[in-house]
Amino acid sequence: MPLARSAIVRIAGYTPGEQPRDRRYVKLNTNENPYPPSPRVAAALRSFDPARLRLYSDPLATELRRAAAKPLGLGPEWAIAGNGSDDLLTIAVRTFVDQGGALAYTEPSYSLYPVLADIQGATRVPIALDAHFDPPADTAARAARASLLILCRPNAPTGNACARESLAAICRDFPGVVWIDEAYADFAEDNCLDFVQRFPNVVVSRTFSKSYSLAGLRLGLAFAPPDLIAEMMKVKDSYNLDMLTQVLGLAALEDRDTMLGNVQRIRATRGRLTAALEAMGFAVLPSQANFILARPPSAIAAGALFRALRERGYLVRYFDLDRVRDYIRITIGTDEEMDGFVQAVGAILGQAAG
Ligand SMILES: Cc1ncc(COP(=O)(O)O)c(C=O)c1O
Repeated sequence: MPLARSAIVRIAGYTPGEQPRDRRYVKLNTNENPYPPSPRVAAALRSFDPARLRLYSDPLATELRRAAAKPLGLGPEWAIAGNGSDDLLTIAVRTFVDQGGALAYTEPSYSLYPVLADIQGATRVPIALDAHFDPPADTAARAARASLLILCRPNAPTGNACARESLAAICRDFPGVVWIDEAYADFAEDNCLDFVQRFPNVVVSRTFSKSYSLAGLRLGLAFAPPDLIAEMMKVKDSYNLDMLTQVLGLAALEDRDTMLGNVQRIRATRGRLTAALEAMGFAVLPSQANFILARPPSAIAAGALFRALRERGYLVRYFDLDRVRDYIRITIGTDEEMDGFVQAVGAILGQAAG
């Protein structure tokens, strides 16, 4: 007789992308930023007095939430901070989905969503994205028995961003909470942050792991009408954000220019990498994120290309899942890294053809 809940014993759990300790690899597998965070973060780290750690952190992370909500013209009561946006997604499921309830999400998308449903003891309601990997027009109807619907824009692992107004229609039609996961929004042409003021049932989440170059810090934010934030505040761990994260996160927010500069470079490199791969016969999905999903030419299968790249020191992501198993996902690195990557791909394709 297992000691854990049967819902937990039954599931495999979420598998994060590989984090090799071996620095030999060019790491293009978990959508980290190749550039360092703001110099202000470095300065704040250097001047942080460890004696402060004797005391607990601010359980409400008020200063950080205030700074995050200010550019939107909103107060801190519109924001909640989490230990990464994964923490916020866990809080969301615990807040909005009953045990025995249902959680809806689109597919293919971030593979954590169904795992969170399983952990909560809720039914999964997967909704297939359409041929362009956009949420179908009847998403709200298909999600009807769920109390929480998670949508990801730009979507991972496909990189595309659906039309804002089609998402707005879903938010209007769905009676429960719509969570828009905007982990990659800083790399996109537009975003849906204004939806939190347009709709009473919308939450938009962001992460510092991608555009802010702070994946190791673990910091995420979600914005929503104050009544939804207040409910989530009851569910989160009391001190879910440590003191150092609050200090460094604030420093990062004070220097958006460094983040935006890095984003610009990554977008330019994304364009160059896309063109280079297309010239080699790849089909590349249009991306608004810091990664691309690319289908290799028929000379080599995606899984074989993933393994051959690994042998040459390039770690990308391969998902052996419906609709994406013919593709590899490549995080955008520096121009130099991408040049080496394109060369490695060329050599592998040459070998496959010969
Ligand atoms: C779509 C999406 N949402 C959320 C996350 C989690 O980000 P965080 O590092 O903030 O937990 C990721 C990470 O890869 C992601 O791809």
